[in-house]
Amino acid sequence: MRNLAALICTALALPAEALPVERCINLGNALEAPTEGEWGYVIQRDHITSVAKAGFDTVRLPVKFSGRWNGERIDPALLARVDEVIGWAREDGLQIILDLHHFDELMQAPGAYADDFFAIWQDIAAHYRDAPNDLIFELLNEPSYELTTEGAVALFDRVVPMIRSIHPERWIILGGGRWSAATEMAGLPVYDERTAHTFHFYLPFEFTHQQAHFIDQPPPPRGWGTAQDRAETATELARGLSHDSAPVLLGEFGVYEAAPEQDAIDWLAFVARAADSAGVGWCVWSIAPPFAILETESGTWRDGRLGALMSER
Ligand code: BGC
Repeated sequence: MRNLAALICTALALPAEALPVERCINLGNALEAPTEGEWGYVIQRDHITSVAKAGFDTVRLPVKFSGRWNGERIDPALLARVDEVIGWAREDGLQIILDLHHFDELMQAPGAYADDFFAIWQDIAAHYRDAPNDLIFELLNEPSYELTTEGAVALFDRVVPMIRSIHPERWIILGGGRWSAATEMAGLPVYDERTAHTFHFYLPFEFTHQQAHFIDQPPPPRGWGTAQDRAETATELARGLSHDSAPVLLGEFGVYEAAPEQDAIDWLAFVARAADSAGVGWCVWSIAPPFAILETESGTWRDGRLGALMSER
């Protein structure tokens, strides 16, 4: 039926279906760590409710499936935990983007791990065989290092038909190389009308990642917000927001906690409003420190950051 619908839309020149994600928050630093909690965050039931009440419609759940893969199956304990979080989100009316995150070995040696990538997705696709369409699959976070867009597409070409045979209507999100840079989306295929493309946006990197502890030579302190800053950021952002071969998701954007708070708030508002104006859904990085929107210890929102994201369009 979907293919028929697509044919009719094309024949009548109707707009393609929109990705049903507008305002999303990443549940990062939890399940993509080697074990949940190791990076300082364990997803809490009441955090999910706070997310729904704040007006988000979707959560993106990064998971390091490759870390709990024994060559034959994903650790059932990890899947049970993912199921639990998905269940919480669903109870609160949120959609879930399930994102295969931090498959580091695949980035270093794509050929050697292509079969594992396929088999992990076979396992996920089978496990979520009966899941409603509020569950969205994002095949691979930030292809990088040895994995180019072309290399990622070779992986997707194999995995998407397998997933489609089980999930004919589920949205599938694809990102390109260079850490899902905006311009890499041009090299991504559109398999069908429920394929979306994603890009990540942290520019200027020297602002969003200033003093970040996980960078070898972290950028020094700096602000953001001059007319020139805004013009340059708008130009870079437009490269992603104007992509039109498939529905687009701005799948990550955020500011490290060392940045001047008011500048961080201004940058978040600037990026979110630009995406809103372009009709592109966004997913902020991330709920927990060190890019936090929520004070996860106390469960209270950083009001300035939340307000920047959720202000009226
Ligand atoms: C990575 C995080 C990182 C963030 C911002 C994400 O894709 O998984 O570890 O903090 O990007 O750099």
